[in-house]
Parts: sequence; C-alpha cells; structure tokens
Amino acid sequence: MSILNEFNLEGKVAVVTAGGGILGGAIACGLGEAGATVVIADIQLEKAAEVADRISEAGGKALAVVMDVFDRESIEAAAQYVMESLGSIDILVNGVGGNSPKATTNAEQSFFDIPADAIKWVSDLNFVHGVLIPTQVFAKHMLSNEDGASIINISSMNAFRPLTRIVSYSAAKAAVNNFTQWLAVHLAQEYGPKLRVNAIAPGFFLTDQNRYLLVDAETGQPTARGGQILSHTPQGRYGAPEDLAGATVFLASDAARFVTGIIVPIDGGFSAYSGV
Ligand SMILES: NC(=O)c1ccc[n+]([C@@H]2O[C@H](COP(=O)([O-])OP(=O)(O)OC[C@H]3O[C@@H](n4cnc5c(N)ncnc54)[C@H](O)[C@@H]3O)[C@@H](O)[C@H]2O)c1
Repeated sequence: MSILNEFNLEGKVAVVTAGGGILGGAIACGLGEAGATVVIADIQLEKAAEVADRISEAGGKALAVVMDVFDRESIEAAAQYVMESLGSIDILVNGVGGNSPKATTNAEQSFFDIPADAIKWVSDLNFVHGVLIPTQVFAKHMLSNEDGASIINISSMNAFRPLTRIVSYSAAKAAVNNFTQWLAVHLAQEYGPKLRVNAIAPGFFLTDQNRYLLVDAETGQPTARGGQILSHTPQGRYGAPEDLAGATVFLASDAARFVTGIIVPIDGGFSAYSGV
C-alpha cells in the first residue's frame, strides 16, 4: 500500500463539533477533501449547513446536524442520527470552545472580582461540556470499530503556558491537554489500542472573536498585543484556518495508527521560541 493511501479517509465518517465555526469549518473541509463523510455538528444549524454545502460543492460528502454540547440529550440524538444514517463514527473532532469577556481580567475587572459563574461557564464550554461529555457520548459508538477510530481535541497555546488575562480559558485548555493524555491511556489499557486520542493546539489565528484585540480597526496595523504575538511567532504571521487541516487529517488517518496521547502545536513556532 502506498504511504499516501494511509492518509486517505475514504469510507470513514467524521463528526466535527463546532464545525460551523471558522477553525472547525476549515478542519471539516480538510477531512472532506481527504475523503471522509463529514458531519458538521453545531448549535447553529445554518452555519453548519454552510460548511456542509462548501464540502459538497467541492465534491465531498457532508451533512449538518444541530447539537448543543450543554444539552446531553441533543448530543445523544446527534450521535444516534449519525449511526442510523451513516452506520459508524470513525473520527470525532471536539471543536467547541471560546472565551468570555466576563471571565477576563481588564481595567474594569480585577482577578478578585471575576464571578464564579463566568469562570465555570468558560470551563464548561472548553472542557466539561465542550470536550468531555461529547466524548463520552460519541466514543461509546467508536469503541467497536474494527478498523479503529480517532478522537482529536482542539486545545490551544494557552494550555502549555497561560496567556495573560484569560484565566479560565487557559485553565480549561490545560484540562483538555491533560484529559487527552488521560483518555488515550485509559482507552488503550481498558479497551485496546484501536481508539486513539490526540489533540491539536492552534497558535494564533485571526478570527472575528479576537480581531478587535489584535488589529487596530482604523490603521489596520497590529495592536500592542498583536505585535507581541507576531514578534514571538518565528514564522512571523498568524495562522490561516487551513493550516490546521493537514495535522488533523494525519491524526485521523491510519498513518497515525501508533500515535495516541499527543498534543500537536500548530503555531508557526510560537511554543518553541524563548523570545531570545
Ligand atoms: N481562534 C483562535 O485563534 C483559536 C486559537 C486556539 C484555539 N482555538 C479553539 O478552536 C476552537 C474553534 O474556535 P473558532 O475560533 O473556530 O470558534 P468560532 O467562534 O468561529 O466557532 C465556534 C462554533 O462553535 C459553535 N458553538 C458554540 N456553542 C456551542 C454549543 N453549545 N454546542 C455546539 N456548538 C456550539 C458556534 O455556533 C460556532 O459555529 C475552539 O475550541 C477554540 O477555543 C481557537
């Protein structure tokens, strides 16, 4: 078999949660291009459908399902629907995550004043409800796959060394890394080596959520924070969403059959650079 065939995802079914988002959408398109049938699962059905259309227009196979990770029944219903309509789940990308200004320190809100419910919400969005619970629901269907299966969590640079201000997001992404390693070991020891668990850790990607922090709206020049990021990124640019697709396809594919429990930084060298 040619080495390139090992990366081919024909015949596999991939579920991408938050697949209607900017990064999840690019990952979903990459998986579709590699041959997988891609289920775009998102709380916003319209956004999921847009990504599914993009994949179909490019000649791939995709469908959109509505799913809210805060509602276990809706995750179970989505998993059931995928099993009934496509017969298996081979790849799960846990893409749900994000921050809230309410869980961020700033001139108006010190660390000491951050409300507990804001901290909990961000932690739940990125870890408990965003990753752990969907994994419980989907992975049960993936355990029996004869040809193996792959779970890929979306972590962040914050997981290795926390960035300033975003206290709960950093802690929750660190939990995602820890859980990725824990579950890789647990599944291999308790259920055998076929269901693998890994993560990707995107560096800095310009998205609608962070553009106002990183680019001066009037001049188009980097803000102080944006400049710091770029000067600490040896490749000297922000990531493009498509930069995440190749590593995800690799982790999803048979080419990574002996790879479990790793977190792959996709960051233009940010995490390798000491700043000197
Ligand atoms: N943007 C970055 O620079 C960056 C960097 C590192 C890591 N990440 C991580 O990448 C992932 C995707 O980020 P993004 O920038 O593409 O986000 P995004 O805001 O573009 O997309 C998020 C998607 O999640 C969906 N969503 C929100 N709540 C949901 C819920 N309860 N149930 C199901 N779907 C829900 C939204 O509808 C949206 O389509 C997140 O885990 C994020 O933390 C992003």
